[in-house]
Amino acid sequence: MSQALRAIPSSGEAIPALGLGTWQAFDVAAPARRGPQRDVLRRFVELGGRVVDSSPMYGAAEGAVGDLAADLGVRDSLWVATKVWTTGAAPGVAQMERSLQLLRGKRLDLLQVHNLVDVQTHLKTLRAWKDGGRIRYLGVTHYSASGHDALERIMRSEPLDFVQLNYSLAEPEAERRLLPLARDRGIAVLVNRPLAQGALVSRVRGRTLPSWAGEIDCTSWAQLCLKWILAHPAVTCVIPATSRVPHLEDNMQAGVGRLPDAAARERITTLF
Ligand SMILES: NC(=O)c1ccc[n+]([C@@H]2O[C@H](COP(=O)([O-])OP(=O)(O)OC[C@H]3O[C@@H](n4cnc5c(N)ncnc54)[C@H](OP(=O)(O)O)[C@@H]3O)[C@@H](O)[C@H]2O)c1
Repeated sequence: MSQALRAIPSSGEAIPALGLGTWQAFDVAAPARRGPQRDVLRRFVELGGRVVDSSPMYGAAEGAVGDLAADLGVRDSLWVATKVWTTGAAPGVAQMERSLQLLRGKRLDLLQVHNLVDVQTHLKTLRAWKDGGRIRYLGVTHYSASGHDALERIMRSEPLDFVQLNYSLAEPEAERRLLPLARDRGIAVLVNRPLAQGALVSRVRGRTLPSWAGEIDCTSWAQLCLKWILAHPAVTCVIPATSRVPHLEDNMQAGVGRLPDAAARERITTLF
């Protein structure tokens, strides 16, 4: 079964709904120690994955993704998102140039202002880079409900292709205002922290999956968490991070098959 695709509202381009985060999981500087990440990236592409999210904030992750993708010969099949995370226009440009180099692209698919740091300055640069064809989409990110008011102001006032935000069974706040707003304004949504950094799976460890999980093609707790997110119509792509192939295979399975309806979503909520 192939991975479900979702359209980016600003262009209509379809991308797989199940992506890959790289915070911590891909922060490995020494090439000789990148075996697990190499296996994860190879399997991700084999299973139909394309969207990879990184940031200069994630230590060696951008370099690891770029090197491994080139080495595996999969760079062209990836849809790569990264971020700018600094203050000032010139440092922002320098950081973005370095990201392009590390991620081995002539251009990047998506560049986001990380945690809204110096957002107005970088949005100007991102617009110029988009006009010049060096990035295809621009956006902003945050990781916490404490940043949602600021995210909302930017979503209302700036033309954005993407917003990246935290949304999960443990952190559902975005569904109150931000997800409906993203739909209204035609902004694609990348979901970070979908497993609450693994805490959601820890909460249910050792418990038996309910028998009705099979009705929505779920064979694990992680898939229930990820499908609960993907069932929200505003969500474009969810980006769980892992450095383990069994977890990657588990997560990718959430990108295929049936999704929970409103009643099943409610039932999932009561389990966590
Ligand atoms: N401000 C921002 O822009 C921002 C903030 C936060 C995150 N992000 C992005 O969003 C991505 C995802 O968020 P996150 O990494 O914070 O958290 P997450 O994806 O919710 O959780 C990752 C953790 O879950 C574990 N895990 C993954 N799949 C699993 C499975 N099937 N079963 C059990 N455990 C599993 C991983 O451990 P193993 O490695 O052992 O599998 C890892 O510890 C980040 O990597 C980053 O790309 C962006």
